[in-house]
Amino acid sequence: MEKPNIVERKPAIITLEAGTYHWCHCGRSATQPFCDGSHHGTEFVPKSFTISETTKVFLCMCKYSKNRPFCDGEHKELEDK
Ligand code: FES
Repeated sequence: MEKPNIVERKPAIITLEAGTYHWCHCGRSATQPFCDGSHHGTEFVPKSFTISETTKVFLCMCKYSKNRPFCDGEHKELEDK
């Protein structure tokens, strides 16, 4: 199974306005934490999610969260990846 690139070992803490977003799962996007299409040719696809009102979010940047696109603290367990 292909592994995603670890972008950072901490979440991206950002405030998003209402709308639909496409979180980068592969870790290759130049527009982190969002998809820029760089996953083409990999087994990864972006995770789409919708925000209904302006919200501060913690988006996963290690790409190993089990609660994608949100951080679940998994980056603290990544020493061997
Ligand atoms: Fe990473 Fe699209 S660029 S999922």
